[in-house]
Amino acid sequence: MRYLTIALTKGRLADKTLEILEKVGITCDEITEKGTRKLIFVNEDLKLKFFLAKGPDVPTYVEYGAADLGVTGKDIIMEENRNIFEVLDLGIGKCRMCVCGTDQARQLLRGHEMMRVSTKYPRITRDYFHNMQHRSVDIIKLNGSIELAPIVGLSDVIVDIVETGATLKENGLTVLEEVCKISARLVVNQVSMRLESDRIRDIIRRLRDLNA
Ligand code: PRP
Repeated sequence: MRYLTIALTKGRLADKTLEILEKVGITCDEITEKGTRKLIFVNEDLKLKFFLAKGPDVPTYVEYGAADLGVTGKDIIMEENRNIFEVLDLGIGKCRMCVCGTDQARQLLRGHEMMRVSTKYPRITRDYFHNMQHRSVDIIKLNGSIELAPIVGLSDVIVDIVETGATLKENGLTVLEEVCKISARLVVNQVSMRLESDRIRDIIRRLRDLNA
């Protein structure tokens, strides 16, 4: 039996993912060792390998078959737009993709003047404003701390993830519109889905039953 490889998203989501995998009997002792600098972890008994990657890289590993399965956020899946199968909503890492800004920006959003939008998610932002709101906006791509942009005058509004809303509140910003709901998804390589169908379907079924 060949190893199945699972790509996990580094950080908060990895811990939550490992928790639910453990509930369905998919464990990996090595990965939970504190302070380890290892990048790849093996469960010999289950013939499974795990690795931790930056969120936006997970769909890339899965598309190219370097990982058979992956777990990452719907935000990343939409933004990366890779050829992968999204097979299950895991119900963890729940948050919202929102247009945010100051209260004053609300007016601007209602009008038709050109607006500047900062975001880590240019594809999602373009799709939302161009295809759903039918208005053109100037999109500025940033890599983090997006809330800074309207405060220092880089842009009028931002499109970003809101989880608790604490970051917005502490910076005098508010949710102006909701773009979509986000949660973590299980994704599968398209060839692996055929070649390892039984094992992969079994994993999907066990995780689905957990949510039912
Ligand atoms: C995310 C997001 C917001 C924040 C929202 O940032 O971009 O800044 O979390 O969470 P909250 O609603 O619970 O305050 P992240 O911590 O991933 O870091 P980043 O700023 O580098 O993107």
